[in-house]
Amino acid sequence: MRIDIVCVKPEILSSPFYHSVIKKAINKGYIDIIIHDLKEYGLGKYKKIDDYPYGGGSGMVIRIEPVDQCFSKLLSKRNYDEIIFMTPDGDLFSQKYAKYLIKKKNIIILCGRYKGIDQRIRDHLISKEISIGKYILSGGELASAILVDTLVRLLPGVIKNKESILTDSFQKESNFISPPIYTRPVIYKGWKVPNILLSGHHKKIKHWLEEMEQLQKIK
Ligand code: ADE
Repeated sequence: MRIDIVCVKPEILSSPFYHSVIKKAINKGYIDIIIHDLKEYGLGKYKKIDDYPYGGGSGMVIRIEPVDQCFSKLLSKRNYDEIIFMTPDGDLFSQKYAKYLIKKKNIIILCGRYKGIDQRIRDHLISKEISIGKYILSGGELASAILVDTLVRLLPGVIKNKESILTDSFQKESNFISPPIYTRPVIYKGWKVPNILLSGHHKKIKHWLEEMEQLQKIK
């Protein structure tokens, strides 16, 4: 899978993509993530990418030309299955959508900034608008990192312990909750790991975990 991320603040993405699972996935060749700095496609000597909104109002708007030029360059080299715009008023991101997206070969993610982007980008160049939640971030970069992290851990081979991905809470669409989990020590400050988990009785443990999961659901 190849993901091209087009943004104004590429430096924000250096940390999430160059550590942990995503870094491993890139190094192992499971995924290509290419970050494009929109400023490289800016207009004139000062590489201008934004301008005042028509009709007035505060804040700057990302112009269409830099975005179109960047997209055109990418589209001239390969086909893209989806061109996503990260925006708080998009469709709410979900595990279900991640599972759909992971099957795609090439995607572009555009991250917004400032007051917003020229509506014509949304109308003519974007195929899907995604929100990671009903709150407003300073830009789409962090939102795109969340989307990419969710995708990467679904790629076959990325997470070693397959069992762990399959039993992940959120993985099952109908079930957003996992049973409680514990590790050593058995007792900390008098707080004890449930005896059943220490019993070694796999059938009983499985039954207990299922019961706990049901309880969590109705909480
Ligand atoms: N850009 C700013 N806020 C966002 C959000 N909540 N989701 C996606 N992109 C965003």
